[in-house]
Amino acid sequence: MQQDLGIWRMVLMCLTAVLSSEIGVNQLNSVTTAAFGENVTLQCFLLEEDNTDPIVWYQQKTGQEPRIMAMTQKSVEASSYYSEFKPPKFLVVNGRGFCHLNISSIEPSDEAMYYCGIRRFEIVFGKGALLSVKAKKLYLLATITFFFLKAYFILTPK
Ligand SMILES: *[C@@H]1O[C@H](CO)[C@@H](O)[C@H](O)[C@H]1NC(C)=O
Ligand SMILES: *[C@@H]1O[C@H](CO)[C@@H](O)[C@H](O)[C@H]1NC(C)=O
Repeated sequence: MQQDLGIWRMVLMCLTAVLSSEIGVNQLNSVTTAAFGENVTLQCFLLEEDNTDPIVWYQQKTGQEPRIMAMTQKSVEASSYYSEFKPPKFLVVNGRGFCHLNISSIEPSDEAMYYCGIRRFEIVFGKGALLSVKAKKLYLLATITFFFLKAYFILTPK
């Protein structure tokens, strides 16, 4: 009896491993840094090359709920885009085994976590990719200069 249970547990574990190995995505770059105005590609690789389930991209800003950006499916020609996430700024680039997201003309408001996922009954998400936006060098320089000027005028006795 004890042995029977052990065998069933093993069968169950194998079955789980087989089932879970073929659904899912890999987001290899967990952090991407871009400067103002640059274009970036957020990568998403499918564990199952011949996947036919819908692939989704979500954006999540700090302290906010995730929002769906785009959905794409092999059997449907065009990707669907939602809310303000429209081409040409946001573009799903998909092919055999991948479904990347191109974002062009990066702005500070694009800084967020971006999740790719496969929707089969429920969504199986990747680990997410943080897009971090660098401030413009000139802006940084101006901020620092202003800080020191202010400090100078406050600290200098009149
Ligand atoms: C997506 O961006 C990559 C570079 O990041 C570029 O090589 C590629 O052509 C872009 N794809 C489309 C369809 O614009
Ligand atoms: C960024 O992508 C846009 C198209 O979305 C293209 O017109 C532009 O030349 C690209 N810029 C760079 C720096 O690659």
